[in-house]
Amino acid sequence: MLLLSMWLFWSLVMSSSASSAQSPSSSSSSVGDARALDGLLQGYAYRAFLNPRTGIVYDGVVPSNLTGIQISAMRLRSGSLKTRGVSMYKEFRVPKGVVEQPYVERLVFVYQNLGNWSMQYYPLQGYMYLAPVLGLLAYDASDLTAINLHHLDIRASDQPISVQFSELRSVPDGSVPKCVLFDLNGSINFSNVLSGNICTTFQQGHFSIVVESVAPFPSPSPSPSPSQGGRIPRSGEGQEKNKSRVWIIVGSVIGGFALLVMLGVLIIWVCKYKKRKNMHKMERAAEVGEALHMTTVGSTKAPAATVILGCDVGN
Ligand SMILES: *[C@@H]1O[C@H](CO)[C@@H](O)[C@H](O)[C@H]1NC(C)=O
Ligand SMILES: *[C@@H]1O[C@H](CO)[C@@H](O)[C@H](O)[C@H]1NC(C)=O
Ligand SMILES: *[C@@H]1O[C@H](CO)[C@@H](O)[C@H](O)[C@H]1NC(C)=O
Ligand SMILES: *[C@@H]1O[C@H](CO)[C@@H](O)[C@H](O)[C@H]1NC(C)=O
Repeated sequence: MLLLSMWLFWSLVMSSSASSAQSPSSSSSSVGDARALDGLLQGYAYRAFLNPRTGIVYDGVVPSNLTGIQISAMRLRSGSLKTRGVSMYKEFRVPKGVVEQPYVERLVFVYQNLGNWSMQYYPLQGYMYLAPVLGLLAYDASDLTAINLHHLDIRASDQPISVQFSELRSVPDGSVPKCVLFDLNGSINFSNVLSGNICTTFQQGHFSIVVESVAPFPSPSPSPSPSQGGRIPRSGEGQEKNKSRVWIIVGSVIGGFALLVMLGVLIIWVCKYKKRKNMHKMERAAEVGEALHMTTVGSTKAPAATVILGCDVGN
């Protein structure tokens, strides 16, 4: 029992230390890449403004090392955003009631279509994209030459913002498409697809439609663990972390089991040894005529474990 509890304690410490040691570095690095891209695209999208009129979509040009990404920018008065919304901005429809924080007089919505770069910046292990990742982010419009701005916080109140995906790959047989939202803090939420190609959200961020990929896991897992099936990995690194944790737990279970078996073998061996020694003693005692005395000594000297496990040395 002592060994069993020591092993349980040890495996808990191992798994918790493994997860706490790895999580900060791995999650922040992938989030950082996407945030750096947001900052870069904001600057390039603002370049599309020359003499911008409010409520008009201006398409921007990305640097050549990011060919395949489309960006646009639209400037709005925050009052009109709140009372009227934006009926259509590329795939997005922004209802009335959206407010920004902190308050600014004018703001810019930067639109991103990450195209073939979607998997690079938003890796999602175990899922397949049916549509490019689309982003909608709000920024302060007071300086249209600014670069690397930090986004404003926006929230929809009564009605959600909707995203109607136009280029949707066909859904593989038997799989259910899901909307995925990557918020700007790096967390991921899944929700149901509406009317075949619409996702809704109460906040800004990056959106797409995915299905669980049918490809089998690269490494065989000996036992399907409920914690891995129920939780959604954040990114490639998250999945790796989860996997290594599962391996630690599996290792602990096997190690603990091996220890128990070894302990059992040891006890049996000690029993047999004691029995044999006792026999010798009894034989010798019988010769001298002191059999009764020696048997009592044998049983009182038996170690606790052998008594508990029914190893009766006395007889
Ligand atoms: C692409 O090029 C731009 C400008 O040349 C540079 O600022 C940026 O860091 C590059 N981005 C990537 C992802 O290589
Ligand atoms: C996306 O496609 C463009 C050409 O259309 C190519 O230059 C670029 O390298 C591709 N990006 C990725 C990540 O494959
Ligand atoms: C992100 O985190 C910040 C600070 O922790 C919080 O104020 C903000 O509401 C979060 N945003 C989202 C979209 O969850
Ligand atoms: C994600 O889902 C959880 C629960 O389903 C919800 O509490 C949370 O607000 C959602 N986050 C976002 C960013 O939508």
